[in-house]
Amino acid sequence: MKTSNSLLLLLSILILLPLPEPSFQASPLPSPSPSPPSPFLPNQRLLKAYTALQAWKHAITDDPTNFTADWYGSNVCNYSGVFCAPAPDDPDILTVAGVDLNHVNISGTLPDDLGLLTDLALFHINSNLFCGTVPNSFRFLTLLFELDLSNNDFSGEFPSVILSLPSLKFLDIRFNKFHGDLPSSLFEKKLDALFINNNDFNFSLPENIGNSPVSVLVFANNNINGCLPSSLSNMNNTLEEIIITNSGLIGCLPPEIGSLSNLTVFDVSDNNLVGPLPETMAGMKKLEQLNIAHNQLSGEIPASVCLLPTLQNFTYSYNFFCSEPSMCLKLQASDDRKNCLPERPLQRSPEECKALYSYPVDCGVFGCTRRLPPPPPPPL
Ligand SMILES: *[C@@H]1O[C@H](CO)[C@@H](O)[C@H](O)[C@H]1NC(C)=O
Ligand SMILES: *[C@@H]1O[C@H](CO)[C@@H](O)[C@H](O)[C@H]1NC(C)=O
Ligand SMILES: *[C@@H]1O[C@H](CO)[C@@H](O)[C@H](O)[C@H]1NC(C)=O
Ligand SMILES: *[C@@H]1O[C@H](CO)[C@@H](O)[C@H](O)[C@H]1NC(C)=O
Ligand SMILES: *[C@@H]1O[C@H](CO)[C@@H](O)[C@H](O)[C@H]1NC(C)=O
Ligand SMILES: *[C@@H]1O[C@H](CO)[C@@H](O)[C@H](O)[C@H]1NC(C)=O
Ligand SMILES: *[C@@H]1O[C@H](CO)[C@@H](O)[C@H](O)[C@H]1NC(C)=O
Repeated sequence: MKTSNSLLLLLSILILLPLPEPSFQASPLPSPSPSPPSPFLPNQRLLKAYTALQAWKHAITDDPTNFTADWYGSNVCNYSGVFCAPAPDDPDILTVAGVDLNHVNISGTLPDDLGLLTDLALFHINSNLFCGTVPNSFRFLTLLFELDLSNNDFSGEFPSVILSLPSLKFLDIRFNKFHGDLPSSLFEKKLDALFINNNDFNFSLPENIGNSPVSVLVFANNNINGCLPSSLSNMNNTLEEIIITNSGLIGCLPPEIGSLSNLTVFDVSDNNLVGPLPETMAGMKKLEQLNIAHNQLSGEIPASVCLLPTLQNFTYSYNFFCSEPSMCLKLQASDDRKNCLPERPLQRSPEECKALYSYPVDCGVFGCTRRLPPPPPPPL
């Protein structure tokens, strides 16, 4: 074992010699004494990382803070934003385990060669000006756990290579220009957190959304053409925060959402939701922040919702609620402006309220609730 390791190291060093600007000092190996392999000497995997990072440096078109100025020489572990750690499968060697180029305004693309960073667990490049998309070579990053591409200029359809990353837990692609459909298989992945807000995705929430084990789901500011599926209730043991503001949601809130007993944040503000606030929401026992403002919800606010033990902030302004139990006003923060609440300040005009209430809401017309199959034909 030891012999082959040292051999490999020796080989690596030999291969390393012709590199343009070796920044490490290849000290002569102490000949007879068998010293353990130093983790700071390069190895095959760091060499591959060197190739990948040099290719990336060439794909960078602007680096206004000179963040990558020290990206030369074979000692990639010393590059700014590059983090090395012992390989999980071989603690004796160092590999590139993380890349973190957050907030440095770099312009450029992600080259195919990044697929050589096969030991990468974290890839964070948020708040830069990267464009293009995620290369298919990312499929080789089988250890990738966190992928944060947020706040860049990435575009195109959802990068399907992401679906093939077996270790991915945290996916953040918010604030980019991705468009088109969102593949429903994304909700079959064993993710912990999913942020896709502020893109141009145009999709409807698929029925399998409830299969996703995420604790945080943020869809805000996209085009969702449809309803909140009742299958969300399958996330009752895992979902802690769901934020779908300003996304064109239609239909009624499905009563099944009341079983989301681990939810702390529920925000569906700025949509086109209609109908009542389901009484079942009294089952959201851990709810702290509830924002349903700017919809066309109507009817009475259930007292049981305002009595939720940890509810701090309930924002329901800009709806058509007609009755509000007094305990709702005792919350730490609440906002009831622009509803149809008698004797409360800053409400809608009686005409506006009358107009809405003259058409009863039929939650069935949106085609959101799964219809039962038609009964079998009667026997002849
Ligand atoms: C890495 O950087 C540190 C400090 O910047 C320096 O002391 C060390 O010699 C460098 N290591 C190599 C191998 O270049
Ligand atoms: C970056 O490097 C260039 C060229 O060496 C230099 O002109 C510029 O002032 C540097 N910018 C910063 C922010 O250090
Ligand atoms: C990046 O650009 C933004 C907008 O121009 C600027 O506000 C910010 O300070 C820049 N960040 C760095 C690290 O230069
Ligand atoms: C979104 O998708 C729907 C249905 O496929 C389509 O009718 C609509 O034009 C699309 N909207 C945008 C902005 O692409
Ligand atoms: C969660 O939902 C499943 C199926 O919908 C149900 O069997 C289970 O009892 C629920 N658990 C809780 C804690 O509500
Ligand atoms: C969700 O709530 C259930 C019951 O309250 C609890 O057993 C479970 O550990 C919670 N899950 C998480 C992820 O907090
Ligand atoms: C309550 O929530 C609303 C909507 O998210 C927010 O605008 C407001 O600042 C919050 N109020 C407090 C006191 O936290």
